[in-house]
Amino acid sequence: MDKLKQILTAKEIDERVSDIANQISHDFENSTPILLGVLKGSYIFLADLTRKMKIESEVEFVRLKSYNGNTSTNNVKILYDFNKSLEERDIIIIEDIIDTGNTLNFLCKKIQELNPRSISIASFLVKPESNKFRFKIDYIGFEIPSDFVVGYGLDFNEKYRNLDSLFCLINK
Ligand code: IMP
Ligand code: MG
Repeated sequence: MDKLKQILTAKEIDERVSDIANQISHDFENSTPILLGVLKGSYIFLADLTRKMKIESEVEFVRLKSYNGNTSTNNVKILYDFNKSLEERDIIIIEDIIDTGNTLNFLCKKIQELNPRSISIASFLVKPESNKFRFKIDYIGFEIPSDFVVGYGLDFNEKYRNLDSLFCLINK
C-alpha cells in the first residue's frame, strides 16, 4: 500500500484554476487559442480550465511519455499526435507538471516548426528545483518541492489520477 499525504485541497486547486482561467480569458480575449493538452496527466486540469474560461477556444491533445514508474528519462516518445494545422494560431500548451522540463523542451521544439503565431505554457504544477531548461512558464498553478505527487490527473503507475486533491507519495 502506498502512503499519501495531502498537500493541496480541492478548494485550493479550484480557486487557483479559476484565477488562471480568468487570466487566460483576459490575455486572449481577441483570439481563439488552441489549448494543447499533454496526455494523460493534464486531462483534469484542461477540463476544469476550459469550463472556467470565458472566451472561445479549441482543444487538441498530444501524448508523450518520458517517465518510467517515478523516474524521468531524457528519451521522450510521441504516443499520439494531432493533425490539426497550428499555423498562425495562438497555442497554449497545457501540462500537469514540469519536472526536469525534458517533455516540454521536446514539445516546444516540435510546435515551433509548425509556425504558430505564439506559444504559451500553462502548467498546473512546477518543480522549480529541477526545471533545468529555465523555461518561462506563463501560467503556473502551484510551485512545489521535488517530491513525487499524485492526484488531479497525476499518476503513479496509472493509479490515483482520479483524486480531486493533490498528494505526496511517501513510500514510493
Ligand atoms: P519532465 O519531462 O521531467 O518535465 O516530466 C514531465 C512529465 O513527467 C509530467 O508531465 C508528468 O507526466 C510526469 N511527472 C513528473 N513529475 C511527476 C510527479 O511528481 N508525479 C506524477 N507525474 C510526474
Ligand atoms: Mg505530463
